[in-house]
Order: sequence, then C-alpha cells, then structure tokens
Amino acid sequence: MVDMDKLVSLCKRRGFIYPGSEIYGGINGSWDYGPMGTELKRNIKEQWWKNIVQNRQNVVGLDCAIIMHPDVWKTSGHVDSFHDPMVDCVECKKRFRADQLDEQKCPDCGGELTEPKQFNLMFRTHIGAVEDSQSLAYLRPETAQGIFVQYINVLNDSRQKVPFGIAQIGKAFRNEVNPRNFIFRSREFEQMELEFFCHPSEADKWFEYWVKERREWYGYIGIRPDNLKVRPHTEDELAHYAKTCVDIEYNFPFGWQELEGIANRQDFDLSQHQKFSGRKLEYFDDQRKETYLPYVIEPSAGVDRTVLVVLCDAYEEQKDPERTVLHFSPRIAPIEVGVFPLMKKPPLVEKAKEIELKLRPHFRTFYDQVGSIGRRYRRQDECGTPCCLTVDFETIEKDNRVTLRDRDSLSQDRVSVDDIVDEVRKFLDGLCEEDR
Ligand code: GAP
Repeated sequence: MVDMDKLVSLCKRRGFIYPGSEIYGGINGSWDYGPMGTELKRNIKEQWWKNIVQNRQNVVGLDCAIIMHPDVWKTSGHVDSFHDPMVDCVECKKRFRADQLDEQKCPDCGGELTEPKQFNLMFRTHIGAVEDSQSLAYLRPETAQGIFVQYINVLNDSRQKVPFGIAQIGKAFRNEVNPRNFIFRSREFEQMELEFFCHPSEADKWFEYWVKERREWYGYIGIRPDNLKVRPHTEDELAHYAKTCVDIEYNFPFGWQELEGIANRQDFDLSQHQKFSGRKLEYFDDQRKETYLPYVIEPSAGVDRTVLVVLCDAYEEQKDPERTVLHFSPRIAPIEVGVFPLMKKPPLVEKAKEIELKLRPHFRTFYDQVGSIGRRYRRQDECGTPCCLTVDFETIEKDNRVTLRDRDSLSQDRVSVDDIVDEVRKFLDGLCEEDR
C-alpha cells in the first residue's frame, strides 16, 4: 500500500504538486501543479477529450463561464440543497462534517460538538462595485449547468440529433468543510463532465453503456482493474436530481473512495431551466414524431482525483536496486523519453542533443547531462519516464547505436540512431499493449 506522506513528498521533490501559496504558509485545500504535474494533468485531460469528444461523431465540446447568472443555481437546486451538515467543537473550535464522524465527540481533542448546521458549499462573490443581495453571484460548483443552459444553442447549431452529448472540462469550486487527503478533496478543482441527452425510454441503456465506457477508459490510461469497482448509490445518497447513480471507486491508500460519479439526471435540469427561464427546451424528434425533454446520463470525473489515482497506481518502492518508480502509461507520462550523454564530454553531448532534437517533434522529450548517469536514471524513474537513451563512446566511435533503458524491467538494449524515432515508438507502443 502506498504511503501517502511519501507520495506527497515525491510529488513536491519532482515538481508534480506543491502546497498552494507555500511561501505564505500555505492555504488549506489549495494545491498548485508544478512542471511535471502540469504535463501529467494535461495528458489526462487530453486523453479524456480524445476519447469522449474527438473519437465520436455524437459528442461535441463546450467551454462555459465560471460565473453564471445566479438564477441558474436557484433553478438547479444548488441554493436550496447543496449543503453538508457541519458541527463545531466547543473546545478547540475545529469544524467537521457531521456525516463523516463516527462519534459525537471531537476527533481531535474529544471536546463536545455543537448541533449540526446546514452549510451551503457554494463560494459567493459579487458582480460589480456594489456588494448587496442584487449583485450576489456564485462560483460554479459543477461544470454541468453551463451545458444545460447552452443545450438549446448547441442543438440548433451543431446539427446533432438526440441521442448526443456535450462535454466540458473546467474548474469547479466548493467551500468544502474538510478538504483532505492531498488533492482528493480540495476547494478548487477541475471536472471532466459529459451530459449525454437521450430519449427517456433509452436512458437505462445509455447509463449501462457509459458505465462500461468509463471503466474501460481508466484501463486505457493504465489503471489496474483490480483497484477499481463500480458501487451503486443507496437511496439516501442520491443527489437531488438523480434517479440512479453509481460511483466508480478507486482503492486509495485511505480506502475505497469515489473517483467518478455516473448519474441518470432524468429531465430534472432541462425541465427546471425550461420552467424558470421561460425558454422552450423541448426537442422534436423527427424519427419518432414526438416532442419531449431528453433524459440526461452524466459521467462526471474529477481531473485532480484522476491525477491522484494515476499517481497512487503507478507508485512503487523497490529494494534491489533501491529506487522509487512511477510506472505511468506512456499515454499520460509527462516525459516519454529522456536523452543523456554518458558523460559531459563534447562529442557525447553534441550527439545526445542531436538525438533529442530529432525525437522532439514526435515525443515528449527531456535532455539531461548533469550528475552521474545512475542519478539521472533514478530521477527519471521518479518522474515516471518509460525509457531513457544514453549516448556513450561506442555510439560515436563504433556503431552509431545508443542504450535504451527500460524503466520497468531495467533491461538495456542497443538501438540504432538512424531508426531512433521508430525504435522509441516501438518501445512505447509495446508498453501500451501491456497496459491493463
Ligand atoms: N455534476 C455532477 C457532480 O458534480 P459530484 O459527484 O459532486 O457530481 C463529480 O462530482 C466528481 O468531481 C467527483 O467524482 C470527484 O471526482 C470530483 N470532485 C467533487 N468534489 C471534489 C472536491 N472537493 N475536490 C476534488 N474533486 C472533487
């Protein structure tokens, strides 16, 4: 089992994730992505976008504003229903979520707790210069509502017909009572959401379809299937809009927890927006000769939670030789290939730089000439780089071949510099094939 403290420390050491505003002492529930983390996160989002939008004819993308008309959140039910029950410790004044406590005593100091109060999770702000109830606005707590509000424009402009989907990736904000477990629960995070519109009679079929698709996608980016499970929500867990919902859960170091929710939102959102905006949102289905409000199947994943899953799943500490390695799939690895001269000697440096330049248009590359070759390899192991190429004197003097070191098996092969793009591609493709 992965030790979270060690993972957090590796993330900082290798530039994946830093505590937010660290030089000012940090801010609870806020994290920044460093150079490696930024690449990892982008690759995850790109794989999702490719799979959900670009590889399908019946899904289109959207990118909506974070601050929407405040009526959106009244209509969606978030103003009235998006709360968590909160309790305060009368002794140490710490605040907890009542539904996450096993006992009625403060888990930190054993003090007495207040009666639970409902706490709305939406961040508030004001639009314009005057701060009054007229100017009150919210930071979106989910990206989904932007899709519902623009659904009719997209339908009219994109030549789509039901069944079809609209996808969005973007920031969401929740004033969580207890942000915790590193980037698992924070106050500012990113979501990857698909709203898939279908005829009500086909909602169950599409629900099953999307659960299967989404589970498979996690395998595609390299997550071990044994660490994933699908858990249906119980009646009392269901969100106010959902008829059925399942969570795709991951076996985190702190237990099985939600990675993605897939819900049948029925026509809850479209009928609410139709009622309160006064705009007609019904769809005329010319195949069925029927007018109706489509049902919505929603796979909703957290980008940051997927980053955490990918890190936990890839992390391994090995004894012989002693090293820490991240076994990322090449599909998401921040760097696909490292290129090194064995030593900082001019002919080796020149050749290694030339090879890196040749590879750069095809792969995410990294050039490094500092420190011993062993330390450079260890560094790339901790960044999750699937392979490294090393130029030595034989390359120059003898065979124009370089050593290709395999991150996982540690095997070293000599490969031709003339065919270097093909050689690296063959190696990375082979690793993707092995992916679970
Ligand atoms: N539109 C539906 C919706 O927002 P949700 O289950 O509340 O559903 C979807 O959120 C996903 O967003 C979660 O499965 C999780 O991955 C991510 N998420 C939610 N709250 C989060 C938080 N505070 N920090 C990080 N990720 C979060």
